[in-house]
Amino acid sequence: MSNPNLSVEIAGIKMKNPVMTASGTAGFGAELAEFFDLGKLGAFVTKGISLHPWRGNEPPRTTETPAGMLNAIGLQNPGVDAFISEKLPFLRKFDVPVMVNVVGHSVEEYVEVARKLTDAEGVHGLEINVSCPNVKQGCMVFGSSAKGIAEVVGAVRKATSLPLIPKLTPNVTDITETARAAVDAGADALSLINTLLGTAIDVKTRTFKLSNITGGLSGPAIKPIALRMVYQVSQAVKVPVIGIGGIMTATDAIEFILAGATAVQIGTASFFNPMSCVLIIDGIAEYARSGKVSDINELIGKVQLP
Ligand SMILES: Cc1cc2nc3c(=O)[nH]c(=O)nc-3n(C[C@H](O)[C@H](O)[C@H](O)COP(=O)(O)O)c2cc1C
Repeated sequence: MSNPNLSVEIAGIKMKNPVMTASGTAGFGAELAEFFDLGKLGAFVTKGISLHPWRGNEPPRTTETPAGMLNAIGLQNPGVDAFISEKLPFLRKFDVPVMVNVVGHSVEEYVEVARKLTDAEGVHGLEINVSCPNVKQGCMVFGSSAKGIAEVVGAVRKATSLPLIPKLTPNVTDITETARAAVDAGADALSLINTLLGTAIDVKTRTFKLSNITGGLSGPAIKPIALRMVYQVSQAVKVPVIGIGGIMTATDAIEFILAGATAVQIGTASFFNPMSCVLIIDGIAEYARSGKVSDINELIGKVQLP
């Protein structure tokens, strides 16, 4: 069989394949570019960007857990102006759509960052992070309620013509409620999930392993939860869903596509093996070829009862 079509489209953004980096796990591209051409990716998603530079939390900020990791980076970033002048030119060198993850302490900050990014060259979409668990104010506070998410997404919608992709938190009772609120407020697609809130304790020192006490759990440990949420949300809304959470292999990625995801993001796996994204793209192509699937879009949401 000839090469299957792997290209997908999210909110008008054409991607060569459904594999993207997950925000905060690939910085601004420089580290991963030492391993492979970023142009191989379906899309590159940046670390969260705020209006002003953020210092992040005090170390220790990461710790390993069984089948995963906890992080409490606290969204350390150089701020939107430095991002545009110092980081974006590097990403523009690659033939890859760039989605910028946007964070803020207030609705006004989200709007201001979105405005600046709309005027910048080489930004293809905005992933609105209303789900980061590790900052004291804002962010997850907005994303944990339908009202909060509608407020942020509605305000940013008025400020930009770029595709808007809110990123949902799993730390809610019913994720379809926040998903629907985001879509009603103008979201073009949805990313899910961000990390689950957790903690870890060192019994030798009798101290928390993270200075922030709590952190976000990611990696294989969260995959079944993410997969369930992607399935539920893709049944509840009509916009494309980007599946995230514990995707380590092409098989994991295909599971998310069958559950309803149009594309997937790879996070923790890249720490384990920086070539993960490329291996997953190749593995998806191989799965399609061997299963005589001529177009990956045919598989989206095609899971059936056993
Ligand atoms: C070290 C680290 C930093 C992260 N930073 C961000 C961030 O800046 N913005 C964001 O939306 N998500 C951030 N995340 C969450 C990931 O993008 C992703 O949603 C989560 O890790 C689940 O995917 P995974 O299991 O493949 O890692 C971060 C995750 C990790 C591990």
